Amino acid sequence: MQRWRVIHLTLRRNRLTAFQIIAVSLLVAAARAASGEPPVRYLSEPKIFILETDHTSYVFGINEQNALQNLYWGKKITRDQDFVSAHTPEAYPFESPEGMANEEYPGWGGMRYTEPCLKVTLAEGVRDLVLKYVSHQIKGDTLEVRTRDINHDLFVTLSYRVYPRHDIIRKSTLIENQTKQSLVVESAQSGVWYIPPGVGYRLTYLPGRWAAENQVTQEVVNQGKKVLESRRMVTSHQMNPYFALDYKGEANEESGRVWFGTLGWSGNWKIVVEQTPNQQVRVVGGYNDFDFGYQLRPGQSLSTPEFYGGYSEGGFGEASRLLHHLELEDILPHQPPPRLRPVVFNSWCTTEFAVSEENQRQFAAIAAKLGVEHFMIDDGWFGERKTDRAGLGDWYPDPDKFPHGLKPLIDYVHSLGMEFGLWWEPEMVNPDSQLYRQHPDWVINFPGRPRSEGRNQLMLNLARQDVKEWAINVFDKILQDNDIKIVKWDMNRHISEPGWPEAPVAEQKQIWVKYVANLYALIDRLRAKHPNVEFETSEGGGGRVDLEFMKRMEQINTSDNGDAFDGLGIWEGYTFVHAPKLIDGGVGDNPGTNDRSTPLKFRFLTGIAMGGAFGLCCDIRKWPQADLDMAKTMIAYYKRIRQTLQNGDLYRLASLREGNLAAQEYVAADGKQAVLFAFLHSQQFSQPAPTIFLRGLEPDALYRLQPVDNKLVEKQQILSGSYLMNHGLDFNLVGDFDSAALVLERVE
Ligand code: DGJ
Repeated sequence: MQRWRVIHLTLRRNRLTAFQIIAVSLLVAAARAASGEPPVRYLSEPKIFILETDHTSYVFGINEQNALQNLYWGKKITRDQDFVSAHTPEAYPFESPEGMANEEYPGWGGMRYTEPCLKVTLAEGVRDLVLKYVSHQIKGDTLEVRTRDINHDLFVTLSYRVYPRHDIIRKSTLIENQTKQSLVVESAQSGVWYIPPGVGYRLTYLPGRWAAENQVTQEVVNQGKKVLESRRMVTSHQMNPYFALDYKGEANEESGRVWFGTLGWSGNWKIVVEQTPNQQVRVVGGYNDFDFGYQLRPGQSLSTPEFYGGYSEGGFGEASRLLHHLELEDILPHQPPPRLRPVVFNSWCTTEFAVSEENQRQFAAIAAKLGVEHFMIDDGWFGERKTDRAGLGDWYPDPDKFPHGLKPLIDYVHSLGMEFGLWWEPEMVNPDSQLYRQHPDWVINFPGRPRSEGRNQLMLNLARQDVKEWAINVFDKILQDNDIKIVKWDMNRHISEPGWPEAPVAEQKQIWVKYVANLYALIDRLRAKHPNVEFETSEGGGGRVDLEFMKRMEQINTSDNGDAFDGLGIWEGYTFVHAPKLIDGGVGDNPGTNDRSTPLKFRFLTGIAMGGAFGLCCDIRKWPQADLDMAKTMIAYYKRIRQTLQNGDLYRLASLREGNLAAQEYVAADGKQAVLFAFLHSQQFSQPAPTIFLRGLEPDALYRLQPVDNKLVEKQQILSGSYLMNHGLDFNLVGDFDSAALVLERVE
């Protein structure tokens, strides 16, 4: 076995500290380089590109028609010579060889009938695009392959980046109009992933809706197409840009082959999962082509979103862990340096718009005593914002609620030893606001037509440079004038009447791309000017969460659903893609959503279990002393284990989708600590809760068991990893909404 593979396996077996992992990764990279096998290589004889991660190979070649053709994606193939040149398939009635070939980036042209990656209309009306290989460039972990249409100077550069230790590859493209006339791009996809041919694949995906984000859903793939998409100018609660495929349902949490991917785009996106008549499953993703029509003048170009794809043989659990580590190490902002997420208090669930300096001081005084580290003030602090009918757009403190501005409150919060955070919603305006009265033309609209309101608000057209500059100035000033550590960036409606009347008619549809690009630019400018400020994405809960947005956000406002039981399901779906560290778990008051009441301990433990960013959103002014005491104990407990929760490996041990019990385990990066949580829905017929089998421990290591309560049946205080993983543990969970937590410390 190559030296670097041995090192990697050793790394996986013996859990190491973050520092050791970086050191070993460098060693692995050096060993890989020394072994003469760079992660991206071109073999000129069979004309193939090999993109290699630690455990996977992704291979495509240049076929006899000079087109790029995919050859393989899956478990690593260690012998390059096993691959021969790409050849188009034999002709078949009513098909063409090129149409049946797994083309790496098919244009819509010739006899091709599957979902294309690129569709254009050229100036003279030609709607035929056939792309051929021109050249390529390899630099370290990246590959760029340039292609050109057979007749026109329309160039498409396919870009790849390999993330070796995450077993993930990223694709995107750059479309350049080098012709002498304008053209219209009607569909611009980031790429296509091909799964080994076969019938009976199962798709796992994450649909949802407001307050019910990311519901894990599975179905068999049949001939035809399944479209996952957003047409709402945001990533959306309604569908997460994620897919996973396994063969005939063979994969589970712990094992089985899983091909998975996720798209980084915070506007209209589309993923098409297609099974062709030739039993080829392919997944195309990129911009949503609905109402697209992006005009490119001569010399102009358009880049597509980044589409990440990975492969694992460790089932859905390992596929998720690969994405979590990609996100933690390569996606999230690194300035300010990543830190453990603080315990947050926010009074929104109690006060809503009725915030005032006085009531915020009351909350802050109690929160500080409980151990809260970050005090956030939500909606309602500005303009005439007494309800959701007015004030959005007028970003100055409401003088009735904060007669001396925000500073006295911020100083008070700081004097209690907490950080201060602020909510805002920059992209929106209430018609009842000074901003709208001054600039009614700044909103997205079609002249003379209705301006549909969502939550009594309209969307500012961020695609306009003047609106973008206004936003930069306003929010930059707020950050200059106030000592703010975390900004909660909200957005509480979706687009309608997507007009941009000031732009030339031929370019008005560019709003779909330019709005989002300017939103990114706005956040990037603010982050660059205020490098110590962190951001939380909120879009009425989790409506704008994708890998491109997460390059700019430190945490996620998970959901507007405060029900602890519902939260378990929402959290589970999130963790298919996103690292638990980012997922803000919180404690609300009874009754919550569904008019459901759950025990305080259940609410705390679910909040902690799901919480990278754990917090309270409840009326602690009204809590009895016993509840406040529990809060203090639980917050201290959370601080003891949050390093493991936020930076460790997650194992989803039991799911409410499959039974009455949810259980999750986190194992610290250095293997010294593990934490287990178990949640019972409803006991029936006095049945005991099922045994929980732990994962990810060292079989021969000993672990000291430290239960947080009296629920653990096992009386031994020290047990081996092999016992914990094979014999498992039982918990005396009874009645409704019972819960248990256990810390395991490795005995040195
Ligand atoms: C929606 C968010 O999800 C809530 O947490 C809160 O910030 C409200 N908006 C405020 O309007």
